[in-house]
Amino acid sequence: MKKVILDCDPGHDDAFAIMLAAQHLDLLGVTTVGGNGYLPKVTRNALVVLEQVGRTDIPVYPGHAGPSTHELVTAPNVHGESGLDGPVVTEPVRKPETKHAVDFIVETVMNTDDVTLIATGPLTNIAAALNREPRIAEKAAGLYIMGGGAYAGNWTPAAEFNIWVDAEAAYKVFHSGIDLHMVGVNLTRQCPVDTEFIEGLRSIGAHAATFSAELCDFFSHGGDAHLHDACAVAWVIDPTLIESAYLHVDIELTGTLTRGMTVTDLRFLQTAKRDVDIDLSSTARWDDPPVGSPFRGQAPNTHVAMRLDYGRFVDLVRTTMRNYR
Ligand code: RIB
Ligand code: CA
Repeated sequence: MKKVILDCDPGHDDAFAIMLAAQHLDLLGVTTVGGNGYLPKVTRNALVVLEQVGRTDIPVYPGHAGPSTHELVTAPNVHGESGLDGPVVTEPVRKPETKHAVDFIVETVMNTDDVTLIATGPLTNIAAALNREPRIAEKAAGLYIMGGGAYAGNWTPAAEFNIWVDAEAAYKVFHSGIDLHMVGVNLTRQCPVDTEFIEGLRSIGAHAATFSAELCDFFSHGGDAHLHDACAVAWVIDPTLIESAYLHVDIELTGTLTRGMTVTDLRFLQTAKRDVDIDLSSTARWDDPPVGSPFRGQAPNTHVAMRLDYGRFVDLVRTTMRNYR
């Protein structure tokens, strides 16, 4: 099993990310970051989810409460006041670890080979770890994020929530040289939380499946009904679930309208007459911009997820929930 650390801000879709990772990956630890909710809430929620699936052996390390440059903006409109509204759960018995998330990330990556980082919230902890120890960029087996979008955002027309919340942290990550995989909203829009998906979970009847269906009952009424974070973990579990293109991506920090945008070099799309003709593996994906372009010489730096095999993704989620008690 691949060794991973999951940095998250549970969050309903983060909960699915945790449940998938706990079963299919060697989940060395869960680290939490302010995002969907304030740090105490998202940390409690991570403990709740692990308890619901009987994995109280997996430690939870609280991290940064929010960005260092801006006031944290949370998303109670999507995830509710608790950050995990919907299922009725008992308070977790376990307490989080006293070690800081950033210390855990740096120590684990530097002392253990082949650790893959997965981040499904704002990149505050990941950027702090890279600032603390830049060598994790090459020591880590890679970083998979749910964040950004190749074409558009969801929190603003240009920016997706995780990147927008802490754009400076994202800039640090995208410029770190780490082997970066981006699951943006252009991918996760292919992963709807619809009635068929929810009832397919509820019909399983096991505790974890019912818990996950009740998460979706709330989440799907929040209006943002896509299982964003689970897609990033699914890509690590089964790389064949997602087709990607290796592109140049940078983070807008100063745009009045575009702050937090993952500016993606999609010029290769213009080599195809129609979207259906797009060949993601085409070498035409990246031809250096013309002399005089400020982007000249900026080679690809990110594996951008473009196509999801939704049917097999749903199979993975259902199988996972059946396997839990
Ligand atoms: O924009 C979607 C992302 O923001 C997901 O990670 C969701 O959990 C929220 O954090
Ligand atoms: Ca999240």
